[in-house]
Amino acid sequence: MILKKTFALLAFLCVHHAYAQTKCPVIPMPASATIATANDKTIITRGVQVRVDRKTKATQVQAVADFLKSAIAKLPELPASTGRGQQILLVIARMQDNNPEAYELVVNTQGVKISANTEKGLFNGAVTLLQLLRNEKGQLQSWVIKDAPQYAWRGFMLDESRQFFGKEKVKSLLDWMAYYKLNKFHWHLTDEPGWRIEIKQYPKLTTVGGIGNFTDPKAPATYYTQAEIKEIVQYAADRNIDVIPEIDMPGHATAANNAYPEFSGGGSKGHPEFTFNPAKEGTYTYLTNILREVNDLFPAHMIHLGGDEVSYGNEKWNTNTDIQALMQREHLANIKEVELYFMQRMSDSLYKLNSKMLAWDEMAEVSLPKDKTIIYWWRHDKPNTLKMALEKGYTTVICPRLPLYFDFVQDSTNRHGRKWSKLYNPIESVYKFNPLTLLPADGNPSLIAGMQANLWTETVSDTKRLDYLTFPRICALAEICWTAPDRKNEADFMQRLQPQLKLFEAAGLYYYDPFNPNIHPEPVPKKKTVSDYKD
Ligand code: ACM
Repeated sequence: MILKKTFALLAFLCVHHAYAQTKCPVIPMPASATIATANDKTIITRGVQVRVDRKTKATQVQAVADFLKSAIAKLPELPASTGRGQQILLVIARMQDNNPEAYELVVNTQGVKISANTEKGLFNGAVTLLQLLRNEKGQLQSWVIKDAPQYAWRGFMLDESRQFFGKEKVKSLLDWMAYYKLNKFHWHLTDEPGWRIEIKQYPKLTTVGGIGNFTDPKAPATYYTQAEIKEIVQYAADRNIDVIPEIDMPGHATAANNAYPEFSGGGSKGHPEFTFNPAKEGTYTYLTNILREVNDLFPAHMIHLGGDEVSYGNEKWNTNTDIQALMQREHLANIKEVELYFMQRMSDSLYKLNSKMLAWDEMAEVSLPKDKTIIYWWRHDKPNTLKMALEKGYTTVICPRLPLYFDFVQDSTNRHGRKWSKLYNPIESVYKFNPLTLLPADGNPSLIAGMQANLWTETVSDTKRLDYLTFPRICALAEICWTAPDRKNEADFMQRLQPQLKLFEAAGLYYYDPFNPNIHPEPVPKKKTVSDYKD
């Protein structure tokens, strides 16, 4: 009897052990991951050779090889190099799945082979390999992984108008985005508190408009020079990330108006000088000149024009005689129509620059060319706006406040950050989210480009709070963007999350620990002040 029980226990342990061994540790979970031969181990050292297949000659592929080689050389979990050892081979090949981001990763006793249709697929395979290497400490099991993303758009937005974090923090965020296969960085660079991108034709945008931030309107000017922007855009491109700048208009324009008040359309008591002036021809020339410089800096040629919350500060449009004359001339019935007229004209400017126009969901009301316009649905309480965007045939990025605004609170004990009534965004809500459940009955799922989390920074006065709000929710975001809903499993995800927290710890991030929230107490945001800085 005892013997029988012991056998049963042993059998259970063996099965359990084998099961645990074959569990794929990767985030986001791949479409398929199996182990070919149970006990094979392939040792990969920090000095492993990374080779590009002889027939594969693109420089972009060599760039992936260089990225992988230098990332492996820095992995603390791996043994140091000893001799030639195994190698990693990158191959461009026609895959069964013709998705440009698909890849196949095979580990055998000779080493690792990653195949893909394009360098983007190879990059995805490379980061899967990095995760396996860290998890298995360089002793790889014989993985066979076939993978492709559910969504092409896997985004994260950072608001650097309200708080400026600077180049090194942005690069670190890009590193983490790449590690979890997020591929669109939406950079909110202009708004009420500050203008953060150098425009050579209008230098006061940064020297004057760059002064201040959300907590201190007199803080010395902070902004990115064009050289820094180029450096960051290249850094992102090396990590399969497109950078999308946002130049918000016609509202949220206060910082620009502080620099060039001649283009201001006024504001309201709560939001002074909030809008650009839609009745002045010079405004369109000025903004088009700005967009020309912006477009030259961002090779993805997708520029976000905002278009949100104009009504917060356009009441002066009702009494401005030039705007009244514009309304008569263009047969615009009200100031909402003025707003749409303005956006239509600015969109035309962007299209002429061969850029796509991206905008918040307020702009779903404008009729624009479907193939050059992308709408971001953010107002979770307005499902009809999503319906309208899809009915009009706009490609749509799904980023509703609930659950994808990361400035929202994530824990019932948190005291700072936003809530919607009593609702907030714990990691479980992020993980459970499936945008297809919001699709209207006759909606076209292929118009949903993907998802994005947005980090607005009214309450994010330092990098500690940035980390706390972003990590580890970024992992849940990555998995809902990449992994098909039928492959998602919350309990399994939470298990795979545990080792990520150790990586965050080692990287010095001030992350939120959902298993033990007391480890890192919620950081308190700075209160609004006015510094005694004088120029
Ligand atoms: C937004 O949150 N105003 C897009």
